[in-house]
Amino acid sequence: MTNKLVKWYKKNKRDLPWRYTKDPYHIWVSEIILQQTKIKTGLSYYLKFLDSFPDIYHLASATENQVLNVWQGLGYYQRALNMLSTAKNIVNNNNGIFPKKYKQLIQLKGIGPYTAAAISSICNNEQQGVVDGNVYRVLSRFYNISEPINTSKGAKIFQNIANKLVPEKSPGRYNQAIMDFGATQCKKYNPSCLSCPLNKDCAARKLNLIDLRPIKSKMKKYRLRYFHYLFITNEKKIIIQKRENNDIWEKLYQLPLIEGIGPLQKNVLHNHKILNGINVLQMRKKKTIKHILSHQKLEITFWIINVKHFPKNNSYQKINLKDIANYPFAKPLKKFLEIQARNT
Ligand code: ADE
Repeated sequence: MTNKLVKWYKKNKRDLPWRYTKDPYHIWVSEIILQQTKIKTGLSYYLKFLDSFPDIYHLASATENQVLNVWQGLGYYQRALNMLSTAKNIVNNNNGIFPKKYKQLIQLKGIGPYTAAAISSICNNEQQGVVDGNVYRVLSRFYNISEPINTSKGAKIFQNIANKLVPEKSPGRYNQAIMDFGATQCKKYNPSCLSCPLNKDCAARKLNLIDLRPIKSKMKKYRLRYFHYLFITNEKKIIIQKRENNDIWEKLYQLPLIEGIGPLQKNVLHNHKILNGINVLQMRKKKTIKHILSHQKLEITFWIINVKHFPKNNSYQKINLKDIANYPFAKPLKKFLEIQARNT
């Protein structure tokens, strides 16, 4: 399997900028980004990130806001903050030298088995197997493994197989081969089995079980949340605030928020403490959207509230709508604000 995958890779690999470097800082950036998005989106974030923070020193001296600004739209914002904290740690405690060894990497904040395996195999030729969603799919099909992938027992089983398959020669190349193979050949839907170099030995294919691999055990229920965002404006400015609590989107900016237990009526909003004593000229519900995160489903309603004088609160910042680019927002907020900015 290993040889066939490497042979396949030589012919079919995708031409990507991080494949021309073994600099662990660059590989780290690429692997953290690629854990949460497909190559197409990841590529532009990778280039933007390195353009803003070309080396570990630039990253270490950035502010949280600057890092979040580059990261906005990617989700999993804690990962970007962990990167900043790890960059500072490496500059302060390791002379700015990014480690390459699995044992050192795994100690760093935000670096787990996947990232440590990717960096150490690519940059230090260590025989550490990467296991991401693509690898789960390829291995579960080829060996017809019915163990769920999202349990700690399953994770161990797949990690052991992945480690056994990594060759001594160019382990990083092999790891990238199996990930590319999963992404473009052994795809989740409509895999290209007819042209697959492994098709004769693929156990799930022999049993006609390709579509049933990998197995995931039923996930926990999503938490449902109802967000009401108030676009409070006096025609010139709006109010934003930084999310400080220990919750999703921590340290990103948002509009003043009311979290309800369901949809809200206008009169409830009118009487809410945020608008207490404020002369509301007009209030209208603009739109409701659904936004899904890894463990939460949000129903977000945006309200447009025209006022003459803004409510007072130490956490509010009054900004011009055209300056929203200076602040990091989560994707649904950014999108809403951009549309508002275009239409006013
Ligand atoms: N997914 C995450 N990292 C990857 C890499 N280096 N090559 C291909 N797919 C990936």
